[in-house]
Amino acid sequence: MEFEQLLKERRSIRAYKKEAVSHELLEKIVTEAQQAPSWANMQASRTYVVEDPEFLEEFRLKALPEGNVKKTLNAALLVTTFVKDTVAFHDGKPYTELGNKWGAYDLGLHDAYLVLAAKNAGLDTLIMGIRYPDAIRECLNIPEEEVIVSVIAAGYRDEEPVDRPRKDPDEVIKYF
Ligand SMILES: Cc1cc2nc3c(=O)[nH]c(=O)nc-3n(C[C@H](O)[C@H](O)[C@H](O)COP(=O)(O)O)c2cc1C
Repeated sequence: MEFEQLLKERRSIRAYKKEAVSHELLEKIVTEAQQAPSWANMQASRTYVVEDPEFLEEFRLKALPEGNVKKTLNAALLVTTFVKDTVAFHDGKPYTELGNKWGAYDLGLHDAYLVLAAKNAGLDTLIMGIRYPDAIRECLNIPEEEVIVSVIAAGYRDEEPVDRPRKDPDEVIKYF
């Protein structure tokens, strides 16, 4: 897909067809997401792919509040985390005033690549910030060193999303 078309067609999708995403396709998009840039190439982003149908249903109910459970029926779920106190840290001290926010920044880049790679592979996605991190940690046995950030649904769209217009560039960009 042309890059500009990809940017336009990537939308948050909240209804998915009852069609499982193959392991190969999920592997393709998570490995493509690894091409994202990261601070000193530290690659502290981690992805937990929940694809087993039975476990997926159990996990969805524990990991997400009702609204997001309904929106992600039939989709695989990818939990993304970053290893804290590593990105932009040296000898246990942060390089800048932003501390662990650089880890979150790197993970945001990683996730942006992931959703675009998914779209390019014919999948649609929904990034979710409303989730239950304690339950997710327990279900997936995620170590305390990792900060749980997002849950991303991936599947085959079963809706045409409503328009989400972007702000006028003049409002958000300044040129000097
Ligand atoms: C960090 C982040 C958290 C989000 N959390 C949720 C969520 O919990 N539930 C939901 O339905 N949408 C969620 N969204 C989707 C946004 O509402 C959506 O990206 C935005 O409205 C723009 O629409 P678009 O993605 O279709 O362009 C989230 C998006 C981001 C980037």
